[in-house]
Amino acid sequence: MNETFLKACRGEKTEYTPVWLMRQAGRYLPEYHTVRSKYTFLELCKTPEAAAEVTIQPVDILGVDAAILFSDILVPLEKMGAPLEFHEKRGPVFLEPIRDRAGLEKLHVPDPEAELGYVMETIRILRRELAGRVPLIGFSGAPFTLATYLIEGGSSKNYFLTKKMMYTDPVLYAELLNKITDCTIEYLKAQAAAGAQALQIFDSWAGVLAPRDFAEFAIPYVKRIIAALKAAEVTVPIIYFANNGATLLSQSLESGADVLGLDWRLPLDEAVKVVGQRVSLQGNMDPIALLLPPAKMERLIQDILDQAKGARGHIFNLGHGIVPEIPPEQAKFFVEAVHRLSKKG
Ligand code: CP3
Repeated sequence: MNETFLKACRGEKTEYTPVWLMRQAGRYLPEYHTVRSKYTFLELCKTPEAAAEVTIQPVDILGVDAAILFSDILVPLEKMGAPLEFHEKRGPVFLEPIRDRAGLEKLHVPDPEAELGYVMETIRILRRELAGRVPLIGFSGAPFTLATYLIEGGSSKNYFLTKKMMYTDPVLYAELLNKITDCTIEYLKAQAAAGAQALQIFDSWAGVLAPRDFAEFAIPYVKRIIAALKAAEVTVPIIYFANNGATLLSQSLESGADVLGLDWRLPLDEAVKVVGQRVSLQGNMDPIALLLPPAKMERLIQDILDQAKGARGHIFNLGHGIVPEIPPEQAKFFVEAVHRLSKKG
């Protein structure tokens, strides 16, 4: 079994720096399009054999050190009772956005095995098919990021309706976030029970909050999730990724996560000054830098490796998800170069 990724999460010594890419299963791979052409995106998420197949594609093609379950952070919200569609151009759309108490009351906390069984089945298939080649990462969205989609009804520019609820109806906001938190705790527990070997919590839009608002409206729910998982004796490493979160790092450190994911805006040595040896770090190359010519990409990778030297452990990654325009050979070169440049002795 390739344990390099799990060792780095735990802060144990590794022979090289493990690497995977956020959104590594997806539209930049022609092999993904071949499978995806037979289903809508949501159908693909709900078809365990096919979801498992696209999960494994980047392991075979790129040689990454971890697989991440193919699904979406919004999938459990649909089962909470919020009808969801994915549109080719607009991205995700919630047909009945949650903006008042009546909306909140329509939502329930789903039983993950009964209502999200396809996710657990995908995990079980993957553990069998990966057969120890690399560990499998499960994931969820963080409550704040999930709430923005439910409240706005989809992606957003300025998060007006989310912030409006935060500032003008904090009681309703807290009840909504608590319901999403309860759902996420059960969902992640079930993923670990089904076989996920690490869990990542994506807080993609945390960076739109002032630190004082992050303290009040976002991080308490993340803390509650991680505390509940640890109390339930979920022992797999937990990664918390707050995108655009440089100003939120000291608060993220108190989340209880074992690993903090970082975007490219903060050099890793600066992050180490804040987090010390308490957590491992994951990141943090600009995803568009995958377009750099080989010698320049190698220099950037070496720079990031050097900046990570003082960290308790380092998992190389991008600072956010890979985008569809990246040629797969560039992604392949990136993985190979991280392995080669980080090999010890
Ligand atoms: O990382 C992986 O390879 C695993 C699969 C994965 C997907 N989405 C597949 C996906 C993961 C971990 C996610 C997480 C996710 N989904 C996040 C957090 C990470 C981040 O990027 O910040 C967010 C914010 C979403 C919500 C979402 N899903 C949006 C806004 C969109 C549309 C825009 C886009 O990137 O396409 C999606 C669709 C989506 N999720 C696709 C994939 C492969 C594209 C769907 C397609 O095939 O048409």
